[in-house]
Parts: sequence; C-alpha cells; structure tokens
Amino acid sequence: MAERINAQSIGFPPRKSLLILFSMISTLFVFSWFFVLRSASSPNFIENSLLPSSSPRLFVIAVDNNNSDSRDPNEAESSVTNRAILSNGDEESSQDSSSVNCKYEGIAKPLKVFMYDMSPEFHFGLLGWNAPGKSVWPDIRTSIPRYAGGMNLQHSIEYWLTLDLLLSEHSDSSRGRTAIRVRNSSEADVVFVPFFSSVSYNRFSRVKPPSKTSTNKILQAKLVTFLTAQKEWKRSGGRDHVIMAHHPNSMLDARTKLWPAMFILADFGRYPPTVANVDKDVIAPYKHVIRNFIQDSSSYDSRPTLVYFQGAIYRKDGDGLRKATRGMQSSKFCLNIAGDTPSSNRLFDAIVSHCIPVIISDNIELPYEDVLDYSEFCVFVRASDAVKDKFLLNLIRGIGKDEWTRMWRRLKEVEQFFEYQFPSKPNDAVQMIWQAVARKVPAITMKINKSMRHSRSNVRREGGTKSIPSPRNFW
Ligand SMILES: *[C@@H]1O[C@H](CO)[C@@H](O)[C@H](O)[C@H]1NC(C)=O
Ligand SMILES: *[C@@H]1O[C@H](CO)[C@@H](O)[C@H](O)[C@H]1NC(C)=O
Ligand SMILES: *[C@@H]1O[C@H](CO)[C@@H](O)[C@H](O)[C@H]1NC(C)=O
Repeated sequence: MAERINAQSIGFPPRKSLLILFSMISTLFVFSWFFVLRSASSPNFIENSLLPSSSPRLFVIAVDNNNSDSRDPNEAESSVTNRAILSNGDEESSQDSSSVNCKYEGIAKPLKVFMYDMSPEFHFGLLGWNAPGKSVWPDIRTSIPRYAGGMNLQHSIEYWLTLDLLLSEHSDSSRGRTAIRVRNSSEADVVFVPFFSSVSYNRFSRVKPPSKTSTNKILQAKLVTFLTAQKEWKRSGGRDHVIMAHHPNSMLDARTKLWPAMFILADFGRYPPTVANVDKDVIAPYKHVIRNFIQDSSSYDSRPTLVYFQGAIYRKDGDGLRKATRGMQSSKFCLNIAGDTPSSNRLFDAIVSHCIPVIISDNIELPYEDVLDYSEFCVFVRASDAVKDKFLLNLIRGIGKDEWTRMWRRLKEVEQFFEYQFPSKPNDAVQMIWQAVARKVPAITMKINKSMRHSRSNVRREGGTKSIPSPRNFW
C-alpha cells in the first residue's frame, strides 16, 4: 500500500529531467505542506501566514505550538536591524569560541600560498579601489576597500581570503595562521588566483554600449590568457591553482577552460562533474546575511514557532531581513529546501540564528563535511520522504526537548566555523577554508607527480602542459 517511489523502480532519468522533477517536487511539497497545515485538526497547530501583498517575494510558513498569535515574539529583540556589514571582527565575534572543544585545531604548518600580483582590475579595482601609482594591492594597514554591499556579501569569500593572505605578510609571526603568502612559487603548496569572480558577475555582467561584451566576460577571457601563460600554471597544468567561483553563475566562461584547478564553490549544481566535483574542489559557506544571535538565552520552550520557512528571495529590503531574523530566532526548526541551486545562504542564516536546520536537498554538499558532522546539529530529510503526508511534521514533532537542546548547543559551538572576518581567527570560515584547501594538497601533488612520469622521455612537450587536456583522460 505504500506508494513509495524509488529511483530503481522508475529508472534513472537524465540529469536535466531530474532537476525538473526535483523543482516540481519542491513546489508540490511546499503547497502540499501548506494544505497539511490547513487541514490539520490538531489543536496544537496554528499560524501560517502568507504575506503576498505587503512583500510579494516573501513566502512564510510558520507552525506554532500554541494557539496564540505570536508572529512577533521577539519584538524587543532589536539587534537585528542592520544587514550584515563588514566587520573588523570586533563587534560581531561569536560568543562561545573559547568554550569550543574542537578537533579542528589549526594545521601544524601553515599552508604556503603563492598569489599572483594580478592587475587590480581583477580584484580590488572591481570594488572601486583606485590603485595609487603602480601598486597592485591596497595597503591594508591604512585602509581596506569595502566589499560591495547588500546581497553581494553572501559570496564575498574572495575578499576575505585575499585580505587574509595580504595580512599574513604583515603579521609578525605565523602563529594562529592557517595560510601564509610566499613570494617564491617553487616553495608554495598552492597558487592562489585573486580574481573576484562573484563581484565581477554580480556587478559587471551588463553590456555597456559601445562595448559588445560585458566586463565580466572580458575579465574571464583575460584571466584564461594570463593564467595559461604563467610558468606556475604550465608546471602543474593548473592543478595546484585555487580559483574562487562562489556565485553559482560566476566564471561561466572560464570554468570550462580552467577546470584542472581547485575551485572554491557554493555548490556543484551548475557544474558538470568533470569540471567540478567534491574530490577536487572545496565548498565554502555563504556569508550569512542575518546577524548573529548574540547572547541567545532562548530555549525549546521559549521559541514559540515550531518550523519556519522563508522562501524566495527575502533579501534586499531591510524589512524582509528583519522578518527573517525574527522568524529564525523565534523558531525551533528552520526549513531548508533546495531552491534553484542545491545550496543557499538560508542554511547559514539558520545556523547563526541557532534554529535547527531541517535540510531537504538530496544533493547538497556542505562545507568541511570531512571534518564536521552536520547530523549533530541538522536534521536531514529525503525529498521523497518530505512529500509524504505529514511525514515532516511528525518527524519534527518527534524531536523532543532534550534532543533539540543538544543540537541547539552544538549550533552555538559550530557557528564560528561559518564566520567570515578580518582579521581571521582560529577556525573561522576563512581559516576553515584554508584548512580544507590544505587537505587537498597531497592529492594534488600525487596528480602532478603522476602527470610528470613521462616528462623525461617526452622530449617534444616542455613542462607537460601546452594545451589543456580533456577532462576524460585527465584523471
Ligand atoms: C625559490 O625556491 C627554490 C626552491 O626552494 C629555490 O631553488 C630558488 O632559488 C628560489 N628562488 C628565489 C628567487 O629565491
Ligand atoms: C505555549 O503553551 C505552553 C503550555 O500551554 C506555555 O507554557 C507556553 O508559555 C506557551 N508558549 C507561548 C509562546 O505561548
Ligand atoms: C611527488 O614528488 C615530490 C618530489 O618532486 C615528492 O617530494 C613527493 O613526495 C611526491 N608526492 C607523492 C604523493 O608522490
């Protein structure tokens, strides 16, 4: 009688139809769930609010435990009004870092990173920084260019990682650092490409006449020309290069040419597996846009909403952000459904709101999952289960106060791993990403060594990589 559909029974459809199917299921799920709520007769259930008129792109479902009207339980909680802004690490630091018992101690030897001195048009120039004279980098001891604001910030990893490398040259010691910049590329573990590809996509994708091509496209073409001409690239075929492409649409042209490199991505949703995959690449968190819930003294009982979901793009306007903040901070669980990409910043907003994420995204790849057990603080639900009548609600209701509290405590411990800041601190997002890169280094070395096996007898080719090999015979 169970109307279970599994992959075997329906065959395995091609990627594209899977994607369509999945979006359909997601949509269906949202609606079916809405009706589940409407038809639930439990006295325990309440409050679903759809707010189409006041904020057309906001879709909120909240299930209450109690019958009271409690849409704004944290009315007094007002630390939320500002959107996430660049911090210098002072005001926004997460509270619990000293009490964290974590096994993610910095690596014994810092990762040695060679960074190309690329023209500012590839990095800080995109943020409006005017290089004085011939300088390539801003003097970060005197002033730090700001990253583009608003929702651009969620993909700002390029900014934080680059600043961290620049700072490593100014700090007296390498203590507390996971990565240091080296000037001699022969001594480097990896080669870092400081192209701010996300801001390039976000801000420079429009074609401005008389030009026929967008700056974003021009820069990518220039980048490919530049990189493939470098001795460092030729030496390794690009395998030891680190390229940031956090916005899912960034590097759209260059990715198929530079794919031997290690990408730092938000997810693999828009990449063919030959170009990007979990073995070669690193998944980095979004920078959360909801502010940290500092001094969160809430409890299972004091969070009135059972499950919170905010769909679509709550972004841009401060009002949507305020509502989302209030919603997440006053809910026990926060729903994460795969949107147009498998990942979204909603997950990281939930984490810093200490709202237990319920993840319905079968293909999601999570940051640092090789060292971090997400099941300690997230609930994972298969999409095929989530569409079953009342499955989700029953599952969530089945998680009692003790279990919830354990997960909530763990959230408060792990949130530091998702914090981008400058200067970086031990085990924050910046350093966790460097550590993830460092863990890939042995595999890269092996790949390079393998590719060099025949270099002695291979007289015609110098350095091994005149042309970029095709993905098929690369591995
Ligand atoms: C760079 O490092 C390599 C290997 O340690 C060394 O042989 C070379 O002389 C160095 N180059 C410079 C310019 O210091
Ligand atoms: C929910 O109901 C319980 C028991 O009736 C009560 O103790 C609690 O304060 C209520 N919570 C809210 C937010 O109304
Ligand atoms: C690759 O070769 C280098 C020497 O060029 C050696 O030090 C290293 O151990 C080798 N790595 C692997 C994984 O074989």
